[in-house]
Amino acid sequence: MRAFVGVVALVAGVGLSIAWAAETEKTPQQIVDERVAGMKKMGGALKAASGLKADPAAAKAKMAEAIAFAETIPSHFPKGTGIGDPGVTKSRALQEIWAKPDEFKAAAEAAVAALKAVDTALDSGEQAAVDAAFKGVGKGCGGCHKPFRGPDKD
Ligand code: HEC
Repeated sequence: MRAFVGVVALVAGVGLSIAWAAETEKTPQQIVDERVAGMKKMGGALKAASGLKADPAAAKAKMAEAIAFAETIPSHFPKGTGIGDPGVTKSRALQEIWAKPDEFKAAAEAAVAALKAVDTALDSGEQAAVDAAFKGVGKGCGGCHKPFRGPDKD
């Protein structure tokens, strides 16, 4: 009897965890949509920061938002969430991301460094340094978009 109860409990436990996984696991397209939303939010924070040159503290707060997302970029690209993968209906993520994971990670790190350079420039209070650092951010984003993002099909 005790063994039987144990088995029932075990089966019920497995059933529960399967149900839990089904509920919490995101579909590939959900992962795509979330990272695109995150990218857009990061772009918005950057734009806001660049418009706040007269208020370095506020600009730095926006930069912190952008940096926080940028640091998580690789984690938003699990394998199986690119163009052509099952369940992905709309994405610009090229398969090169998973063919060249080291390059992808390096591109993400370069973008984070470019964002942090703006933060440092804001501390310096020198307008020319801030402008130059913002230019570097454009390159930082492009350094990943060029090799790893496909064309916009909308
Ligand atoms: C390490 C790679 C990487 C870096 C760095 C990166 N992006 Fe992206 N970004 C991508 C990929 C790949 C996509 C397409 C995602 C998809 O559609 O699944 C994307 C999508 C976007 C989108 C959504 C709209 C669109 O074109 O699909 C925006 C906005 C965006 N990125 C802005 C930025 C900005 C601004 C930066 C720099 C601060 C940046 N990204 C840095 C890889 C990167």
